[in-house]
Amino acid sequence: MIKDLPFIQIAAPDLRGNEEAYVVEALRSSWISSTGAFIDRFERDFADLCGTNSAITVCNGTIALHLALLGLDVRPGDEVLVPSLTYIATANAVRYVGAEPVFVDIDPETWCIDPARLEQHVTPRTKGIIAVHLYGHPADMDAINRFAAVHGLWVVEDAAEAHTARYKGRPCGSLARIATFSFYGNKILTSGEGGALTLNDPHLELRMRTLRGQGMSPTERYYFPVTGYNFRLTNLACALLCAQLERRDEILADRRRIFDAYNERLADVPGIGFQPVATWAEPAPWLFCITVEEAYGRPRDALMAHLAQERIETRPFFHPLHRLPPFREASRRRQEHLPLTDAVAARGMNLPCHSGMTMSDLDRITDAIRNFQR
Ligand SMILES: Cc1ncc(COP(=O)(O)O)c(C=O)c1O
Repeated sequence: MIKDLPFIQIAAPDLRGNEEAYVVEALRSSWISSTGAFIDRFERDFADLCGTNSAITVCNGTIALHLALLGLDVRPGDEVLVPSLTYIATANAVRYVGAEPVFVDIDPETWCIDPARLEQHVTPRTKGIIAVHLYGHPADMDAINRFAAVHGLWVVEDAAEAHTARYKGRPCGSLARIATFSFYGNKILTSGEGGALTLNDPHLELRMRTLRGQGMSPTERYYFPVTGYNFRLTNLACALLCAQLERRDEILADRRRIFDAYNERLADVPGIGFQPVATWAEPAPWLFCITVEEAYGRPRDALMAHLAQERIETRPFFHPLHRLPPFREASRRRQEHLPLTDAVAARGMNLPCHSGMTMSDLDRITDAIRNFQR
């Protein structure tokens, strides 16, 4: 009976290492707030992982983007180039500072913002670019950075979904002025909620650390020279993150095994397509992506409904942001036409990937996809 089958979640944290021990250690130390040894340790170790001078922890990935834009002094009336195929936080953060996200189509080789299409969206108000490493695959950062340098723009990497991904051998997180990360419960490394920024610029770092902590002067306690925010992350969350970071190789190896098994078992199913991988990319194995093409004989949404009946959780690709109520009017006025974003978003779906999955879970998922095909 289908209803007796165990439910396969799309994502689940892997907390089998020192997570519990470190959280207990933080509790017993009484440092449960936004100061503590685990924060210092995680900020140091995460910067090392990303190959940057510094990392700043914050409450979540959306706030990391918001703080990056505040740090870069983005203001009302400014425009920021962003992909439309991304999680809504990328564009929401632009609105938080009163600026306008301008949507750019994706590159067929990466499904990330297309460097060749940036030019057509630049106006005198354009200040920067947020390049999202979508579904773990790095954006073409050299081309994006070259374009930005010519036009005097800054670049931020939104690496929320791309922990440990590499671009031409370099770690994502080290490829722009600032990079942002999310540690939400479905991410590769997680603290339930959490986020970070990585960067090399000490002035920008000081500015963002000040803004993160209510604007308090770094040299005079309880003197506030600017209006800041409380964007801090707790020592408890960083205790979890320290344990996650210790086990990253194991967590990644488990996820890669799942990716390899999907690739192998779905390779010959007619009409099932895969996320492109650029020759220079080492993507992070986040959620597994497939596209459901005409040759499959059933629409994507029918396959998702079938898998739900089989107690397998899936997700459709992100709804293109330029078509969502908060952004569609402005996008229409700018006459944005993003055909590849629309096509990939309509056909794409994510399959489960987490270290708790067994190969028999994999068989159940891939058999269900294969057998539903016609
Ligand atoms: C691309 C992208 N940017 C930003 C975020 C926001 O992160 P958070 O959920 O931690 O606020 C997420 C996801 O969660 C994301 O996938």
